[in-house]
Amino acid sequence: MVEIRKTLSKLKPKIVHFILSIDKEGKPSGMVADWATTVSYNPPLIAVALKKKGFTHKLIQQSKEFVVSIATKDLEHAISSFGYVSGEKIDKFKKTDLKTLPAKKIKTPILKEAKYNFECKLNKEIDVGDHFLYVGEVVQAHENSKKEILLNFGRKNNIRIFGTR
Ligand SMILES: Cc1cc2nc3c(=O)[nH]c(=O)nc-3n(C[C@H](O)[C@H](O)[C@H](O)COP(=O)(O)O)c2cc1C
Repeated sequence: MVEIRKTLSKLKPKIVHFILSIDKEGKPSGMVADWATTVSYNPPLIAVALKKKGFTHKLIQQSKEFVVSIATKDLEHAISSFGYVSGEKIDKFKKTDLKTLPAKKIKTPILKEAKYNFECKLNKEIDVGDHFLYVGEVVQAHENSKKEILLNFGRKNNIRIFGTR
């Protein structure tokens, strides 16, 4: 017999995603997420599970759009802000100096240093336990061919180990 919560957290490696959205003034914020995946090719859909207590999901509820950025080594330094601090408390872009580029089909910007950026329009919000599942229709994809994807290998001696592929 194993402890369920502990065992679920061992399902690694996971791709590191940055999920971004904007407030009513168009100011971006975002967070790190492991729990994101493609769920349909036709239409092209990506689902992300965001905790109900977080800030980013409120931006998605308002703006009805978000960006899913597939992280690279160049974004690892920003995990300490985007993965542990609430966007209600700090301006994560100011703190980390992450470079953004304008998206093509939505208002939320994309990340210059990401391997892939997917511009998504909100298709569905599903209440799933302590998280909301946001299903986004991908309206534009971007690729940065020279970069490698950042993977989260989980914790060793309580320190998170990241690698690339
Ligand atoms: C490697 C990593 C993976 C994470 N994955 C998720 C996730 O899949 N879903 C989630 O809700 N939070 C996840 N988090 C936690 C959020 O990124 C964190 O709570 C963040 O501060 C939320 O920011 P916000 O309140 O501004 O939205 C993860 C954090 C790290 C470091």
